[in-house]
Amino acid sequence: MLKKITLSAITALVLGTSGAMAAGGAGHIEDFQFSFEGPFGTYDQNQLQRGLKVFTEVCSACHGLKFVPFRSLSEAGGPGFTEDQVRAYASQFDVYDKELDDTRPAKPADKFPANTGAGAPDLSLMAKARAGFHGPYGSGINQLVKGMGGAEYIASLLSGYTGKEKEEAGVTLYENTAFPGGWISMAPPLSDELVEFDDGHDNSLHHMAQDVSAFLMWTAEPKMMGRKHTGFLAVFFLVVLTSLLYLTNKKLWAPHKGKKQA
Ligand code: HEC
Repeated sequence: MLKKITLSAITALVLGTSGAMAAGGAGHIEDFQFSFEGPFGTYDQNQLQRGLKVFTEVCSACHGLKFVPFRSLSEAGGPGFTEDQVRAYASQFDVYDKELDDTRPAKPADKFPANTGAGAPDLSLMAKARAGFHGPYGSGINQLVKGMGGAEYIASLLSGYTGKEKEEAGVTLYENTAFPGGWISMAPPLSDELVEFDDGHDNSLHHMAQDVSAFLMWTAEPKMMGRKHTGFLAVFFLVVLTSLLYLTNKKLWAPHKGKKQA
């Protein structure tokens, strides 16, 4: 991860701002606080459940999640559904079955349906695809220092509409402060209190935008917590090994040290 960030920072510096803009860093990105930021950050299970609800009720009308299997909703580190809940949830969607040559209600082993009808991109990996080069001169420094990445971009995009619209070649475009170029063809999908949360959580636009962005970070990187855990263990092990080697080295050479001077 660190290597990737350093690499992208170097590429951005070499390419200058044009390279940064091509990577999508041109808009204004707000720094949201996410529970999964930092070396020990973890996903917030309740937030993932709320984000899934926003996705299901709003975004899935236009967007697909074709790389995400339903059963991952019950896997550790995710929204934490029981297998029965996953089965019930999946059955709301219809998928095409090759063997039946017909559609049938989805099962936990199926993936979320693809959805390309409205010309909307698939969102499975969007939070990683838009990790971007945030920070001064597109250096990517904000990702390293403030943990700003794709989730921030999506949340800023959803809450970045100014309310202005224009027609271009028969397409309505909406002004958005986070979208590179400033005009996006996606109509503002969220408005205050659009989705009711079961736990009565705050459903202002800002909160819903953040919850669905956290959910999309999880779909893009479901194993993030495991990765951080392994990384921590590796560093811990290396620290222990280094100290032992240092002490061994000291002990081995102790009898020979300072002989000549004495
Ligand atoms: C009415 C259909 C519709 C709905 C509902 C909708 N979108 Fe979109 N979305 C689009 C279209 C169309 C695009 C492509 C816009 C473009 O490239 O100008 C898009 C693009 C996007 C992008 C990519 C922007 C980029 O950088 O290229 C993201 C992220 C996104 N939508 C997130 C969401 C989320 C999250 C929701 C639910 C809260 C949602 N959308 C609801 C139609 C929709």
